[in-house]
Amino acid sequence: MKFFVDTANLEQIEKAQSLGILDGVTTNPSLMAKEGVKGKEQIFNHYLAICKLVDGPVSAEVFSNDYDGMIEEGETLHALCPEKITIKLPCTENGIKAVKYFASKGYATNCTLVFTLGQALLAAKAGATFVSPFIGRIDDIGGDGIDLIRSIVNMYRTYGFKTQVLAASIRHTNHIVRCLEVGADVATCPLNAIVGLLKHPLTESGLATFNKAAEQMK
Ligand code: E4P
Repeated sequence: MKFFVDTANLEQIEKAQSLGILDGVTTNPSLMAKEGVKGKEQIFNHYLAICKLVDGPVSAEVFSNDYDGMIEEGETLHALCPEKITIKLPCTENGIKAVKYFASKGYATNCTLVFTLGQALLAAKAGATFVSPFIGRIDDIGGDGIDLIRSIVNMYRTYGFKTQVLAASIRHTNHIVRCLEVGADVATCPLNAIVGLLKHPLTESGLATFNKAAEQMK
């Protein structure tokens, strides 16, 4: 399973990259706004800065909801760094049409805001590179986000779709572990959820014991 970090914060991206386990980055308008970037120039420069830090796909989401706007923005985003930028499009009628358009040009796409198996089917049929089911937001309203990941993985395997299942809206370390169990291709996570995978009290107490022994031998 690949790891993407779900942030537009350059320090966090740098930290995730320095761990040596980072495969890509996802952003969205909320995450970009959090970094205080404003206006096209700053936004584009921010994406370029992210692309410089990461050796892998960087999802950049369109702001438009209409088809023509999505196409124009997607083309501009793609041109920023064609080998890394993945155009992120919402799973709406216009979004699906835009996924199809960009897929036919060979551009990478990420179909986002996916909450049902039917939406995931349309994303795959349109040729999306990634589909992003939001597991945390499903759990928030009393659903089972992991169950949706499992169903999409099974559906794509059964019908031979090439679209990669990118588990999004991950809230904690256990979500990552559950995504592994059900066969997600990618998990996009907050950095603390990734680092949380390292945490175990027996690792900590074991290390403390070894450190003490190492001190005695100095
Ligand atoms: C996915 O690509 C989104 O950026 C993100 O995972 C949404 O997560 P949230 O539900 O924590 O906002």
